[in-house]
Amino acid sequence: MAKFPELEALKSELLEQIEGAKNLAALEQVRIAALGKKGKISEQMAKLGTLPAEQRREFGQATNTVKAAVTEALEARKAVLEAAELEARLASERDDITLPVRLGPLAEGRIHPVSQVFDEVIEIFADMGFSVAEGPDIETDDYNFTKLNIPEEHPARQEHDTFYLRETTAADGSNRPRMLLRTHTSPVQIRTMLSQKPPIRIIAPGRVYRCDSDQTHTPMFHQIEGLVIDESTHLGHLKWCLEEFCKAFFEVDEVKMRFRASHFPFTEPSMEVDIDAAAIGKPGHWLEILGSGMVHPNVIRNCGLDPEKYQGFAFGMGLDRIAMLKYGIPDLRDMFAADLRWMKHYGFLPIDVPTLAGGLSS
Ligand code: PHE
Repeated sequence: MAKFPELEALKSELLEQIEGAKNLAALEQVRIAALGKKGKISEQMAKLGTLPAEQRREFGQATNTVKAAVTEALEARKAVLEAAELEARLASERDDITLPVRLGPLAEGRIHPVSQVFDEVIEIFADMGFSVAEGPDIETDDYNFTKLNIPEEHPARQEHDTFYLRETTAADGSNRPRMLLRTHTSPVQIRTMLSQKPPIRIIAPGRVYRCDSDQTHTPMFHQIEGLVIDESTHLGHLKWCLEEFCKAFFEVDEVKMRFRASHFPFTEPSMEVDIDAAAIGKPGHWLEILGSGMVHPNVIRNCGLDPEKYQGFAFGMGLDRIAMLKYGIPDLRDMFAADLRWMKHYGFLPIDVPTLAGGLSS
């Protein structure tokens, strides 16, 4: 090698540059300038052809030795620089996981109290083994009334202030059955009993409609229907179930409840349920929250089941009503006014999903 001082000089020049490269980009420049097609080592290789044959071998070997040394130095330096770069990244990108969650856009949106309360009620009944059933808002007269033991001319039909749809005729000129906006979620009882075999245990949340509007009534509001049908469910089960529900929903250990004899065509006996508003800080005030009873044998029969064999209970609860009670919302109409300031005040953060384990309304 000593025979080729220019190769010796080139080697130390390149090794010095490699050592001096401050980062991976600079090192890459050095590599190209040394080993690239027009690099200094390639230049030396190109000289080979011009040398006399007896020198060629030796010069070639010497150049290859330089090339190997440079390649090795490049790799070693690259490893050092990569490690340093990773070190720097780890130091600068460290996250403080003890910081509070930054909500970003999630903090802007709100879950409407009605949606929140739907989720809460579903969570409670799902835990008791109920599943969720749904039915259409546009119903037949048969499912909304007749099969629920409310025949035509029954006074209950007047009480419901029903919105009827325009009558339509089929292609053959015959009248189609007149449709209506369901006045309660009870037709889902019918749909469920017609399509499922007992034991049945469902709740049916949804919109209902009545032609009524004042401070405590809106033409559309929400109900949750409950239905349990099997061979042995009795009134005691109904009371237990509703008591457990109220305690869980109002998130208290004790709720005073009053079961008042009442009348619905589709239950016998029927009871309306009031709760003592102590649960919401107004002791001594009874507030009606739902209608309930043992499913009438006629209803069971109308759905093709044998009332001698099957029995059970049903209830229907005003969802907006219990949402207002629980969250201290004074005016029902505000619930449907789409006022953003109201939503900011009464709404819920989307990340606070209600669960029994984590708290319904944390
Ligand atoms: N459907 C009744 C109403 O809207 C409530 C109810 C449901 C009562 C189920 C008893 C049983 O008023």
